[in-house]
Amino acid sequence: MALRDAPGSPVVDVHTHVVPKGWPDLDAMCGGSGWPWLRVDSERDAMIMVGETEFRPIGAACWDPATREADMTADGVDVQVISPTPVFFSYERPTGQAVKVARIFNDKVLELAAAGGDRFVPFCQVPLQDPDAACAELDRCLAAGHAGVEIGNHVGDRDLDDAGIVTFLQHCAAMEAPVFVHPWDMPGGPRLDRWMARWLTGMPAETHLSALSMILGGVFDRVSRSLRICFAHGGGSLPFWLGRADNAWHRRGDLVRGDSAAPPSSYVDRFSVDSVVFSPPALRLLVDTLGVDRVMLGSDYPYPLGERPAGAVVRRADFLTETQRDQILSGNALRFLGKPRI
Ligand code: CO
Repeated sequence: MALRDAPGSPVVDVHTHVVPKGWPDLDAMCGGSGWPWLRVDSERDAMIMVGETEFRPIGAACWDPATREADMTADGVDVQVISPTPVFFSYERPTGQAVKVARIFNDKVLELAAAGGDRFVPFCQVPLQDPDAACAELDRCLAAGHAGVEIGNHVGDRDLDDAGIVTFLQHCAAMEAPVFVHPWDMPGGPRLDRWMARWLTGMPAETHLSALSMILGGVFDRVSRSLRICFAHGGGSLPFWLGRADNAWHRRGDLVRGDSAAPPSSYVDRFSVDSVVFSPPALRLLVDTLGVDRVMLGSDYPYPLGERPAGAVVRRADFLTETQRDQILSGNALRFLGKPRI
């Protein structure tokens, strides 16, 4: 992996998404039916379709390196980690189908990254429902040029303390591959299927639960300290409610401690979060709760619930020293990516 050889510290955005263009008919290539497909509406507009249902309108920024680079330059971002869009994870599919779709998308993302020179750092997707297949696809991708992996925060009813998922995380640690955890597959229902409630309340709760499952499931007690793992959206609800989890751990230990060796707040040096929380007080909470070395610039570009310009809150947060701002915009991400310095 080469990061941009710019003078000074490159600004790195660890949370962006891509949707490559030009992928084949997945029903035909992967088997099964009801796969996502892209309805191209114009040169710069498309619709992700799932079967006959419109899932999400997207624009050229999802697939066009030049559009992304223009936005990055406008926002003062040197390097983007580019990750899959979770609708393509396919964890609910038979493993063989999920392997095929992962290969198709991972190879497409490498093409997109290559077109952007060294400004794009590609993260792959893996068939996480099958740990052996997930490890094999990670290995294939690392050899081909991916720098890390994005995973969904759960696989059906299995959280990140599931034995198979822990096996995969151990493998990531052994391979020195950074892991970006993104919420997805949020519960719906009449109360949640309005106002984007699944995104506004569901996503932060999902991320909260997956981080808590690693803590209370004893995962951080078992996996190597070399595991580098980052939770999206500022860690969801976790940082705000860490004190609540500590209190429950002490006072209802019979129900809450699980396999954890220490109170939840003892584990804050084992994971990172991104900065896409939209307000200086929320960013300050992350810095105060997790430590300034645990927060990295993330924007969720190019989607409408992301921050534009990327890093606006970090840049205007008056409680940060310039050294701390550099850590969040650059140094922490370089360490996460295994690239300690340029
Ligand atoms: Co995102």
